[in-house]
Amino acid sequence: MAKLGVNIDHVATVREARKTYEPDPIEAARICEEAGCDSIVCHLREDRRHIRDTDVITLRETVKTRLNLEMSVAADIVEIACKVKPDQATLVPEKRAEVTTEGGLDVKKNFTKIRSVVSELMDNGIEISLFINPSRPQIFESARTGAKIIELHTGVYANAKNDTQRRKELEVLKRATIYAQSLGLEVNAGHGLNYDNVRDVALIKGMNELNIGHSIISRAIFTGLGQAVEEMLRIIR
Ligand code: PXP
Repeated sequence: MAKLGVNIDHVATVREARKTYEPDPIEAARICEEAGCDSIVCHLREDRRHIRDTDVITLRETVKTRLNLEMSVAADIVEIACKVKPDQATLVPEKRAEVTTEGGLDVKKNFTKIRSVVSELMDNGIEISLFINPSRPQIFESARTGAKIIELHTGVYANAKNDTQRRKELEVLKRATIYAQSLGLEVNAGHGLNYDNVRDVALIKGMNELNIGHSIISRAIFTGLGQAVEEMLRIIR
């Protein structure tokens, strides 16, 4: 059975809309863990658009499951990771202008840099996952960096225009998983997974963990909005 990592970035996105203290991603992590998730994921972006350094430090102290820090290979972020020591770091490509992580790492092109960051983080006792597109060359190069985990980018699958394309992309993910496992890699997946499309990915044989953020936080707004209005009305009336 696939595990679930909940990405809490967008709780912090709402907080940053007002640069205030609520909603608190630390409290969000606590609720996610109480609900049974297997890990907490957050992305300390170079532009700090949602998660702050202090969030990562506090999460390290409060998360009871596993803390998975998404991060670029930028030197200052690597330094923070080595100090904070999350259970796992997931290396992702990062462009400042992007709305979200747009594609996987190009491990082939940036092999030397990625391998050196992988070994620095592993020397600090951090497990490393590489976020890559489901392509054989990227999987092969990922294994060569020394990383033991990959996370397959499910964006193309999630954005498929019709069922035929979706089934084709699911096959791509399945084949990528089999190939990665044959190289001894643990396989996670994520990006764009939601309540409609997650099931088939969760059923991929040996799929270890799915990392999901936007759809869970979006759903939480509507499962909680009615109660929030009722509470406010009770105070006003
Ligand atoms: N996995 C990785 C590596 C990501 O960068 C993201 C987005 O931050 C996710 C999973 C979660 O994607 P989504 O928010 O679309 O569920």
